[in-house]
Amino acid sequence: MRGEVCIGSASFLSLASLILLIFVHIGQINTSSVGKGVSMVKVNTSGYDDALTIITLDPIVGVHATNASAPLQARTGLRELYLFGLYSFCGYTNETAGACSNRTVGMQFRPYPILTSDMAVNYSVLTDGLFDTAFQSQQPTFRDSSYLGGSTRAAYYMILLGTICTGLAFLTGLIRHGMTFFISTAFALIGSLLLLIGAAIWTVVINKSDAINDVMVGSTPAPLGIIVSIGPALYMLWAAFAVLLVSVVPYMLVCCTYRG
Ligand SMILES: *[C@@H]1O[C@H](CO)[C@@H](O)[C@H](O)[C@H]1NC(C)=O
Ligand SMILES: *[C@@H]1O[C@H](CO)[C@@H](O)[C@H](O)[C@H]1NC(C)=O
Ligand SMILES: *[C@@H]1O[C@H](CO)[C@@H](O)[C@H](O)[C@H]1NC(C)=O
Ligand SMILES: *[C@@H]1O[C@H](CO)[C@@H](O)[C@H](O)[C@H]1NC(C)=O
Ligand SMILES: *[C@@H]1O[C@H](CO)[C@@H](O)[C@H](O)[C@H]1NC(C)=O
Repeated sequence: MRGEVCIGSASFLSLASLILLIFVHIGQINTSSVGKGVSMVKVNTSGYDDALTIITLDPIVGVHATNASAPLQARTGLRELYLFGLYSFCGYTNETAGACSNRTVGMQFRPYPILTSDMAVNYSVLTDGLFDTAFQSQQPTFRDSSYLGGSTRAAYYMILLGTICTGLAFLTGLIRHGMTFFISTAFALIGSLLLLIGAAIWTVVINKSDAINDVMVGSTPAPLGIIVSIGPALYMLWAAFAVLLVSVVPYMLVCCTYRG
């Protein structure tokens, strides 16, 4: 491969990875930006009121919020859909309308206290009781906030450092000098390793917490109505890792063959 082609493809790949990572970072910062649909994990609670009706044998009303702009975590009602980004999460009352939390660096994925702090007190007391007794044998990791929160916080710093390495790989690759290609190769390698760890942690966390999806209630078993699923940002993170890893090949080729 000609040197220019190598340099060009390496820069193109690391830039593509960087752009994917920027989208991963801006997901769920607010409800109106391009990051609106971009989330690491989705929690859909639309069936939870039906499940409570089955459990209590009383018609349960008022579990879900009707006012989309009411603040989160203020007992104003459960949202139909919660989308979690890296810095904040948003609760949507329908496909389009919602409100977002405050932004935090290293935000932890702690779905259980977030959901119950949106419920009216009577429903959060009921939910705590159910998780303490009925669901305990089914061990939903969903409630294990210290595990979920600690893991996702660690993953965040891996993703942040991986993003910085990706940016540095791209920038140092633009400087046409033999030594800088060695540095670019090193940043691309370290960056892809960090992104791999971050993406793997998130994947494991979601795969464990989605055991809640299979929890059944009532005598004629019906679903609990809380569904955890992978959001598009996690796929983008895996793609960013793969693209950055592939960029190591052309970076390494120029680094080993560059004659100045
Ligand atoms: C919805 O919540 C917002 C924010 O708390 C409030 O300003 C607004 O008046 C509420 N709307 C209704 C219809 O209650
Ligand atoms: C939540 O899940 C239900 C049932 O699977 C689905 O009908 C609904 O559209 C989902 N809600 C959102 C906001 O995606
Ligand atoms: C979603 O809710 C908002 C505010 O409650 C409403 O204006 C909008 O029409 C709703 N959208 C859909 C698709 O139901
Ligand atoms: C979000 O920030 C505002 C202003 O700083 C604060 O008043 C509010 O309590 C915060 N909300 C949460 C849920 O921490
Ligand atoms: C729970 O509290 C909410 C809000 O205070 C109320 O609307 C609802 O009727 C209560 N539900 C039951 C079953 O007591």
